[in-house]
Amino acid sequence: MRILVVGGGAREDALSWKLAQSPSCEAIFHAPGNAGTAARGVNFPEVSATDTRAILDRAKANAIDLTVVGPETALAAGVADRLRDAGLNVFGPNRSGARLESSKAFAKRFMERHGIPTARFAVVHSLAAAQKALDQFSDGVVVKADGLAAGKGVVVCDDAAAASTVLNEWYAKNTIPGGGSDIVLEERMTGREISVFAISDGRAMIPIAAACDYKRAGDDDRGPNTGGMGAYSPPSGFPVNALEIVRERVIAPALRGLIAEDEVYRGVLYVGLMWTDSGPRVVEFNARFGDPETQVMMPRVGGDFARYLASAAEGAIELDAAYFSDDACVGVTLTTDRYPYENTKISGLPGTLRLPEHVAAFWGTSMREGDLVSSPGGRVLTVTATAPTVAEARARAYDAIAQLKPQFPANTRLVYRSDIARL
Ligand code: AMP
Ligand code: GLY
Repeated sequence: MRILVVGGGAREDALSWKLAQSPSCEAIFHAPGNAGTAARGVNFPEVSATDTRAILDRAKANAIDLTVVGPETALAAGVADRLRDAGLNVFGPNRSGARLESSKAFAKRFMERHGIPTARFAVVHSLAAAQKALDQFSDGVVVKADGLAAGKGVVVCDDAAAASTVLNEWYAKNTIPGGGSDIVLEERMTGREISVFAISDGRAMIPIAAACDYKRAGDDDRGPNTGGMGAYSPPSGFPVNALEIVRERVIAPALRGLIAEDEVYRGVLYVGLMWTDSGPRVVEFNARFGDPETQVMMPRVGGDFARYLASAAEGAIELDAAYFSDDACVGVTLTTDRYPYENTKISGLPGTLRLPEHVAAFWGTSMREGDLVSSPGGRVLTVTATAPTVAEARARAYDAIAQLKPQFPANTRLVYRSDIARL
């Protein structure tokens, strides 16, 4: 099988790594790819993940059998639609299915239509309507911009007054993240967060694994929200049958809903959940794999992952093609030192790293003019380690970081959290 991975972050490096190890993978290509993917296949650095036309051209020219779409921006741009319309096999939903992620208002209404447990909500289109709707929320309230806002569109507020300040700011200055005018207000839920990933071929939707990620920049969940500072899988401290509960209460009704609405959903559904006193309730849906959750799930996969995704993309998932091991995996993200506020460019990073056993590292960086530089996002490398327990995997991951440091140029300033998977 000849595979094209769309995207260029550490998530896509991890997907490419596992796909390339699959017995059925003959060759692997990436648009645009990054420093990690360049080492195992062909990169098209000039092709952005949202350039539907260039991606279709490259897929045809290279006789691609399977395209795996990484980022939500590519799905929202219609990359999957365009390739499917041309008769190609794609893992990733069409733009209409990806609305579960690209529009929070759509997702909330979908959940309401199909009885999926989630926070009580209101969708508003103006400041006046928003202020009025705030009356319905007594305790904490969460303000969410409707569209894709790269993690910047959600503000969790302690009360209606705090929410009102955010709404005033966004509407008055016309600065609603994502650029739309719709806002979702919802009740604040309390509990622990867990992400569950389900693979769908359009007819079945199978929960495959779960992970926990760390969104805040600093230890003990302090500091600003980021794209993700680390993750581990499988999560600890949830019911042993958590995946089964989520399958029954969330995934099965979601699949029934998609089918009832004539949506042939072929790809992954990422279910972000709050495990409340009454069980799991959906915080958000995403239409793609998580970053950095993917980096800690891929090292746990055995079998032929390429075949697994290809069969889902073809509409008849081969459940036996791949499996998840019982091992734990912990991943720590190394970022530039001012992340997420600004991106300090660093260069001179080594293209290949010497890694200890049971350790894999995934790049979020690209090669420019022959030099390895950090990408505009600021997340440089996810260092992951596997072991029989989370505690051992955690120790291995931090040991590996200590061993990697001397391999970077002396003045390289990378930062990371020291409490990932400290349970
Ligand atoms: P989202 O982009 O919808 O995943 O929201 C980002 C983060 O905001 C989530 O990971 C939660 O930590 C928090 N959050 C979102 N919605 C709620 C809610 N209804 N109650 C409590 N926290 C929430
Ligand atoms: N880890 C959060 C996300 O991928 O959206």
